[in-house]
Amino acid sequence: VKMNAIFTRRSVRKYLKKAVEGEKIERLLKAAMQAPSAGNQQPWEFLVVCDEAMRYKLSEVSPYAGPVKEAPLAIVILGNEDGESVRFPEYLPQDLAAATENLLLEAVELGLGAVWLGVAPVEERMAAVRKLFVLPESVMPFAVVAVGYSEMENVYVDRYQKRKVHYEKYCSAEKNE
Ligand SMILES: Cc1cc2nc3c(=O)[nH]c(=O)nc-3n(C[C@H](O)[C@H](O)[C@H](O)COP(=O)(O)O)c2cc1C
Repeated sequence: VKMNAIFTRRSVRKYLKKAVEGEKIERLLKAAMQAPSAGNQQPWEFLVVCDEAMRYKLSEVSPYAGPVKEAPLAIVILGNEDGESVRFPEYLPQDLAAATENLLLEAVELGLGAVWLGVAPVEERMAAVRKLFVLPESVMPFAVVAVGYSEMENVYVDRYQKRKVHYEKYCSAEKNE
């Protein structure tokens, strides 16, 4: 079985001191915007942050956002429920998660390392990002992705668990081994 980006993607939290090329940044954003969304509403917007001082401030948004100050690049994934084609605002988090995963997978394709740093639905984190970038009310900060060139090669881990799969009818864990 071919080890494509889905299987070789890992969270990368340490990076080389090498900038991410502009073409690669655009390609990451194209991949994100290629994601499926409810009613094809494409509610996403992206904030590309290279500035070191801003990345430092972003890293303080959550206790687990440290990688964003190590990485040369941060991409903040935003949802705009006021977008012209947004008809299902309740689906925003799912649409944005699909976009975020697409971005992470494209990073692998481009030889980059990245990590998803959770923002939504934690109110304090959302408020901190909102304040930092002076976002309008209709714009929801969803996640931050730190991106850079990894210091090392990703290690594949097999996470397949047979007991999590149910064929035709639901079987409790013990019976499903
Ligand atoms: C919704 C979400 C939020 C996450 N938030 C963080 C975070 O704040 N900081 C961090 O270092 N990793 C974060 N991660 C990455 C997970 O820790 C990581 O995906 C998980 O441990 C599995 O490891 P892998 O990505 O290397 O396969 C997040 C992942 C998801 C999906």
